[in-house]
Amino acid sequence: MKVLVLGGAGYIGSHVVKAMLGAGHSVTVFDNLSSGQLGNLFPGADFIAGDIRHSSDVEAAFARGFDGCVHLAAYKAVGESMAQPEKYSVNNITGTLNMLNAAGTHGCKNVVFSSSAAVFGSPQYVPIDEKHPTNPESYYGFTKLEIERFLAWYDQIKGIKYAALRYFNAAGYSVDGSITGLERNPQNLLPIVMEVASGWRKELQIFGRDYNTRDGTCVRDYVHVSDLAEAHVNALEYIASRGESLTVNLGSETGVTVTEMVEAARRITGKDIPAAYVGRRSGDASALFATSELARKTIRWNPKHSDVDTLIASTWAVYQKYSAPGVKK
Ligand code: WQD
Repeated sequence: MKVLVLGGAGYIGSHVVKAMLGAGHSVTVFDNLSSGQLGNLFPGADFIAGDIRHSSDVEAAFARGFDGCVHLAAYKAVGESMAQPEKYSVNNITGTLNMLNAAGTHGCKNVVFSSSAAVFGSPQYVPIDEKHPTNPESYYGFTKLEIERFLAWYDQIKGIKYAALRYFNAAGYSVDGSITGLERNPQNLLPIVMEVASGWRKELQIFGRDYNTRDGTCVRDYVHVSDLAEAHVNALEYIASRGESLTVNLGSETGVTVTEMVEAARRITGKDIPAAYVGRRSGDASALFATSELARKTIRWNPKHSDVDTLIASTWAVYQKYSAPGVKK
């Protein structure tokens, strides 16, 4: 298929492009490089520098004619979305509507959308399945849920089929070392742990040790980005061949605590990784993990790299190529 990947120069996007090329699809990346990086582009993919906020950029891209697109061009920092909702409204919501309208105009009938476990809010039960009520607790999560609703309307009215993929905690890097771009100013646990291991930060702050979990720290479901990428390929092929839309959770189904993650990182990196327990971070749920049974059944998803050791070792391998953030050795 001819596939347009919006946000294809980013952390998850670059892994998706690699997987799409590997599956034999023809790929064009559309990215404004605000967080994506030229170094993440693959020689086998075309590149369009464009911004989803500008409908003319999006129209011009879709006018090239695509069978499907993968939409990952979004802001994703939960805290920032509560401080600057405007940024999330314009980029995540308006940008997606630009994409959907252009897809409709130019006959692109299949959309894979990067959604999030953030649509659920604090869980009423775990593991979280697709029937779990949605109740986002951040503006970021709200934008993802709202977009899922737009997708359902555009399916009904315009016949655009979609796969909404609700990622849990994405982590890791391609195990073959082909993707080496580090996220700028990372906000998530594993990159922060890696920055401490690399000596770029003095210590890790562990948010809360009084949760009702096995060691008092929060439980999360970390899923390897290459496994996520494979799900995009399977989902695109599924919706295109069946003419059926789909909403699925993507998690490893394994809950890991923050302390377990840090201890595994110490073992794998051989570094001390100083850590201090501090108060809870507002908005953190005690335990969040998925059941991905539906993804396994429908899109034949079979995560292979989402064990803690592979997540950490593949990330550490990339950090070791840098002497400072953004500075390669
Ligand atoms: C993981 C755990 C922290 C940093 C976020 C979004 C979610 C989804 C995935 C995109 C938590 C703890 C973290 C630190 C810590 N994103 N932690 N010290 O919040 O589970 O999920 O990313 O869709 O929507 O909310 O991820 O990596 O920030 O935190 O103790 O310096 O690590 O409290 O328990 P989170 P995270």
